[in-house]
Amino acid sequence: MSLTPPRRYWLTGASSGIGAALAVELLNSGAHVALSSRTKGPLEALAHRYPGQVLVVPGDLTNSQTVREIGEHIGVVWGSLDTVILNAGTCEYVDARQFDASIVEHVVRTNLLASSYCIEAALPLLRKGHTPHLVGVASAVTYLPMPRAEAYGASKAGLRYLFESLRISLSPENIDVTVISPGFVDTPLTERNDFPMPLSWSADKAARHIFAKLDKRPLEIAFPAMFIATLWPLSKLPNRAQLIIGKRMLRSPPPHKDDL
Ligand SMILES: NC(=O)c1ccc[n+]([C@@H]2O[C@H](COP(=O)([O-])OP(=O)(O)OC[C@H]3O[C@@H](n4cnc5c(N)ncnc54)[C@H](OP(=O)(O)O)[C@@H]3O)[C@@H](O)[C@H]2O)c1
Repeated sequence: MSLTPPRRYWLTGASSGIGAALAVELLNSGAHVALSSRTKGPLEALAHRYPGQVLVVPGDLTNSQTVREIGEHIGVVWGSLDTVILNAGTCEYVDARQFDASIVEHVVRTNLLASSYCIEAALPLLRKGHTPHLVGVASAVTYLPMPRAEAYGASKAGLRYLFESLRISLSPENIDVTVISPGFVDTPLTERNDFPMPLSWSADKAARHIFAKLDKRPLEIAFPAMFIATLWPLSKLPNRAQLIIGKRMLRSPPPHKDDL
């Protein structure tokens, strides 16, 4: 009788929010999971709670050398990966009256460039894996241009294109690619939001939903359904109609630096 070996995952952004909740879902299923984030404590706590199932691979993923070393370490210990979930990310809003390119740089570095470093490190391991699956956490923000989301939306639109393009290029190698598009989820990232978050889900609910869908390898996992059902059709409207909707979301801007 042959036992199927546990699936091996690499999950980034596992120290809090959606990633931490998803780590628990994966570990409860018996999977082996390599966990990354800059903060080590929560990853070590999971390693303690699920002995023998966790590989703690912490580090700043915006550092390409660090990511290379994480990939090498996973390669030495496991030799391969079956699923890679690139979830680590950040969000900062832009004030167009004092446009600060460093915000764009930081957000794009974290959400897009770091993900590309992870892909470079992960692909050789996925090629040796069992029914390989590459998963990226984008955002429903990419369906519609929203005020103040210039940096975040650009980074996630870039990430979406990166994954959707890779999906085609990797298809001859049978590496499946899934994009996750959450609406609002209550996490430390969105705690800072000073606007209403309609139909928001808890991180646990989001993680359960993602985990339940992952097995079927859909092209996209978008949720909550009601939120997506409202937002997605807006993405098909002409640009001028989208501009009118976007203007409705404009709020009185914070005071200009010179006014203070
Ligand atoms: N919450 C939402 O409503 C929502 C909606 C759409 C999409 N998303 C996306 O979902 C993903 C998870 O977000 P979340 O809401 O769960 O936020 P979160 O609780 O802030 O989690 C973000 C995770 O990313 C890690 N991370 C950030 N920068 C990193 C870096 N330079 N190197 C390594 N790890 C880094 C953080 O760990 P450390 O700080 O310890 O490094 C943390 O584990 C993000 O990609 C986010 O854009 C969230």
